[in-house]
Amino acid sequence: MSHYPVLRMRRARAAGWSRRLHAETVLTPADLIWPLFVTDGDGEEPIATLPGVSRWGLRGIADRAREARELGIPCIALFPNTPAGLRSERGEEALNPDNLMCRAIKAIKDAAPEIGVLTDVALDPYTSHGHDGLIDEAGYVMNDDTAELLVAQALVQAAAGADIVAPSDMMDGRVGRIREALEDEGHVNVQIMAYAAKYASGFYGPFRDAVGSRGLLQGDKKTYQMDPANSEEALREVALDLDEGADSVMVKPGLPYLDIICRVKTAFQVPVFAYQVSGEYAMIEAAVAAGAGERDALVMETLMAFKRAGCSGVLSYHAPHAARLMGA
Ligand code: PBG
Repeated sequence: MSHYPVLRMRRARAAGWSRRLHAETVLTPADLIWPLFVTDGDGEEPIATLPGVSRWGLRGIADRAREARELGIPCIALFPNTPAGLRSERGEEALNPDNLMCRAIKAIKDAAPEIGVLTDVALDPYTSHGHDGLIDEAGYVMNDDTAELLVAQALVQAAAGADIVAPSDMMDGRVGRIREALEDEGHVNVQIMAYAAKYASGFYGPFRDAVGSRGLLQGDKKTYQMDPANSEEALREVALDLDEGADSVMVKPGLPYLDIICRVKTAFQVPVFAYQVSGEYAMIEAAVAAGAGERDALVMETLMAFKRAGCSGVLSYHAPHAARLMGA
């Protein structure tokens, strides 16, 4: 007796209990890293291009840390909006042990010491030209001189209590130099999450508004961030950062680069994180505002996609909303 169809794939999808039973990927609040913007002011500053996201003063940051704890979000990523008067050609404010970033790290550790703090290592929130490093007369971002400053910046952050330093600048060789310096200074348990495959992307616009670097940025970042055309190059970047001592690697942006996440995970079997960046968040919010999609569904589907592609976790501005949807 022959049956048609041979196998009914829909059988397992027919009831909710069965769909739950067959789910291959799980998403929990523990998969989330919540990026937060810090401001010198005391209140809450909404960011026009990131509707629903604000910059927070130190008290607000402490409140967000408590909120993360309640929601089961394990880690917060910090980005400072450095006051204009403190930005300079060489970004010296990055090395000030009492800068906004260091004060925010301490505020979080005071409010919720069990929350991990991830800090961005790059000079763009501190430079008057908006680049991630030092520029020469031609405007070229100088690699080795920048790396030296990044080492000092990472040490300042580690001394303030950062748990994970995350170099996002794409200079060559900086992971190894930062690792060595952290070891020398006794920060043996401070992790490095390398922005290993970071693309020169059109999706960073709202972030640059949030940290106040958009109007300052001269030119683009194509001489250090990756070409969206490339994936073999991403594997070489990841291999180098791992050789230099990265504990985990990041792919950024997120959704347009799921193929990269999958290839990196398959090739290296190391913890891989995705950054669902500001432009991706804004795109979802714009779709919702236009009535083209439903927020909860879009948020959960995109986050699940990162897990399915092989991510250990995701940096997402939707983190608190997603954690609430997960029933936290
Ligand atoms: C810069 C940095 C950027 C982001 C994180 N760190 C922007 C850039 O490279 O210009 C973008 C994150 C986002 O868009 O959400 N070091």
